[in-house]
Amino acid sequence: MKFLVINGPNLNLLGLREPEIYGRQDFAALQQFVRDAAAEAGVEVELFQSNHEGAIVDTIQEAYGKADGIVINPAAYTHTSVAILDALKAVALPAVEVHLSDVSKRESFRQVSYAGLACVKTYMGLGFEGYRRAILFLRDFCEGEVKRA
Ligand code: DQA
Repeated sequence: MKFLVINGPNLNLLGLREPEIYGRQDFAALQQFVRDAAAEAGVEVELFQSNHEGAIVDTIQEAYGKADGIVINPAAYTHTSVAILDALKAVALPAVEVHLSDVSKRESFRQVSYAGLACVKTYMGLGFEGYRRAILFLRDFCEGEVKRA
């Protein structure tokens, strides 16, 4: 089983970026955490980060036929991008949304999630742990799909 883990804009600046909200660990630490979580779950993982909406859309499209599922933190594009929502719907791969912070307790403009409309589950406010839970959930979800087929 292979999952694509996508991180959106400014997540490459973890550690530097508003540490009181996003923590003091850097993006390299997040990538290692995700790799360890994938190993724990017994799944393969491919990591992708971009600050560009179109590059994220391209990567979601390319996942079709290659990945079994997607874990995505679209970052600020969560709240603006119909294009990312449409790409997730187009490939129709099971997807799980992750946010480091609890967006439900933040500004009103963060209360809409377009990408979330195409996701089977959302984890927020758990920091790095949200990615681990997302990978484990997605593995169980995909195994269930296989059993049901
Ligand atoms: C975020 C929350 C978004 O609102 C924000 O724009 C981000 C990060 C999170 O992981 O908490 O860049 O997705």
